[in-house]
Amino acid sequence: MILPVILSGGSGTRLWPLSRALYPKQLLPLVSERTMLQETVLRLDTLDDLGPVCCICNEQHRFLVAEQMHEVCKNIGGIILEPMGRNTAPAAAVAAIHALSRFENPLLLILPADHVIRDREAFARAVTAGTDAALSGALVTFGIVPTGPETGYGYIRAQKEGSGTESCYPVVEFVEKPDLAHAEQFVRSGAYFWNSGMFLFRAESYLEELDRTNPAMLALCREAYEKASADLDFLRLDRDAFGACPGDSIDYAVMEKTTHAVVAPLDAGWNDVGAWSALWELQEHDDAANVVKGDVLLHDVRNSYIHAASRLVAVVGLEDQIVVETPDAVLVASRDRVQDVKVIVRQLTESG
Ligand code: GDD
Ligand code: MG
Repeated sequence: MILPVILSGGSGTRLWPLSRALYPKQLLPLVSERTMLQETVLRLDTLDDLGPVCCICNEQHRFLVAEQMHEVCKNIGGIILEPMGRNTAPAAAVAAIHALSRFENPLLLILPADHVIRDREAFARAVTAGTDAALSGALVTFGIVPTGPETGYGYIRAQKEGSGTESCYPVVEFVEKPDLAHAEQFVRSGAYFWNSGMFLFRAESYLEELDRTNPAMLALCREAYEKASADLDFLRLDRDAFGACPGDSIDYAVMEKTTHAVVAPLDAGWNDVGAWSALWELQEHDDAANVVKGDVLLHDVRNSYIHAASRLVAVVGLEDQIVVETPDAVLVASRDRVQDVKVIVRQLTESG
């Protein structure tokens, strides 16, 4: 049985001003009528032998997450609440401990809550392709053929010759978020995948690896889980123990260090919707290659994304721009500079 674990604790700062601390991108309907969290749940329909769906998120989002989950999910296997973010390695550890308290030998499918996957059947085929390896103890990653030297992704070197099967390859090297020079070298070599950020493994396999690489983190995750309090669907982790836990991602804490990783290629129209440019790329364009949301009037505008949330937005003579209006903030940015929106958010946070 596969137990999906949805990671929904990120803050999505590059999609400011729509994505906010109290309303991060995964809880917004950014690419369809459903929110990205709900799309993540609905995508699971294509998988066989599915168990209850667990979600792990910050406690301040509990009601939004519960409401959105209940709308689309008949089998919720708990909503684990983090008193504070400690990144994805502790989140996955707690979810693994939770799964082991209820099931014998479960396989966990770790899923970010904020990705777009166009081809659900291809997604299901990749999961099936990784299942045997995961059952025999491997940590399965899903690899995307890179289209450029992105520095915000993990890079996976697969050993394609010899020991691999058609659908899964041993991982020779996993490099999380390399600098640009390395990313360029990796892409040029043709030997690397991007890490999609989804993982498939037995709960025990992950916990064993974490125990090897970061026993202190695992011990504090166990303590936070043992002292957790339950109400409704919610399982509230102990604040002191979880607060004392070091923060790190699955990628740095485990995937870069393990020797048990394999990669299943994924060709499914994957996009991690990292920034506004992705929303322009992903959605239907008008005749002038614009994507328009809400009450918008355009004259002589091309290749742009214009989003009006609360007022009429009129734009004249722009090309390759992003304009996002919300009741209390407006963003205007060049489409090729949208990664820097996080700089603005940092300035806002620092100025309180
Ligand atoms: N519960 C919980 N708690 N979830 C979290 C936390 C946390 O503290 N931090 C992040 N998440 C969730 C995010 O909401 C997202 O769904 C997922 O975990 C991944 O976190 P990101 O912060 O978006 O990671 P990333 O984009 O920098 O990097 C990861 O994804 C890339 C692909 O999009 C890595 O796995 C990279 O290797 C990968 O290429
Ligand atoms: Mg991400």
